Amino acid sequence: MRADSLDPQQLDDNPQLARIRARLESKLAQLGGPVPLSETPEPSPAAAAAQARIPRAYRAAVADDPRVITWVRDVAGLAVAPNLSARPQIKYGPSLLLIGRTGRGKTWQAYGAIRSLLARGIDVRWEATTAADLYADMRPSSGLDAEWMLRRLMRTPLLLLDDLGAAKTTEWTEELTYRLINQRGIHQLPTLITSNLRVSDLRDKLGDRVASRITGMVSQQLAFKGPDLRRVAA
Ligand SMILES: Nc1ncnc2c1ncn2[C@@H]1O[C@H](COP(=O)(O)OP(=O)(O)OP(=O)(O)O)[C@@H](O)[C@H]1O
Ligand SMILES: [Mg+2]
Repeated sequence: MRADSLDPQQLDDNPQLARIRARLESKLAQLGGPVPLSETPEPSPAAAAAQARIPRAYRAAVADDPRVITWVRDVAGLAVAPNLSARPQIKYGPSLLLIGRTGRGKTWQAYGAIRSLLARGIDVRWEATTAADLYADMRPSSGLDAEWMLRRLMRTPLLLLDDLGAAKTTEWTEELTYRLINQRGIHQLPTLITSNLRVSDLRDKLGDRVASRITGMVSQQLAFKGPDLRRVAA
């Protein structure tokens, strides 16, 4: 018989159950009543590992921009749990373009968004790279398996592509950026892109094919204004 289908009178009729009930009630009374279930997800080693990979400078980042908060809510709402006991995972969703001059808090908001998804209990598998690091890693002389790395960034459920358009470009970097953006675009994989350039300038720098796909992928182009926060802090 399930405990929630017991008549309280039956509990009192059974001396052993009555004793357990009295003990529980006295404990609850000491605690000031029933303890509500926490809304904070249970800590998980995977979530702790994902948080630990965030660079130290952005480990306390909070996405407090309302437009970024909306994006987090949208992406979290589209996350799917593979089974009843598993955490929801990102399968697809909108991307976001954060534009502004240097030091305006774009990367801070992007890492804040990743932290916010983790805090919501989403199983966030993510990668981050600046465009300059991506191109450096992809050079044959880097000694890394470039194709494998590119495919990892193409497929990761959430990618932060930082400082797009800041590095020197060539036909080769254009092609590489195109392959990455195109794959993420057609699979609708959420991508946080930060840039100092507006889309029209990104078009000049990285070509029309890249700029066109970014425009199609992003739910919003967020402009960040205000002072250079690095200078303010100094
Ligand atoms: N909301 C915030 N609260 C506290 N510190 C912040 C906040 N936003 C940004 N910062 C700090 O301001 C500095 C600049 O932020 P950030 O690196 O995000 O700028 P950015 O726009 O990405 O600049 P860049 O274009 O040069 O990459 C960082 O040191 C960051 O830690
Ligand atoms: Mg930045």
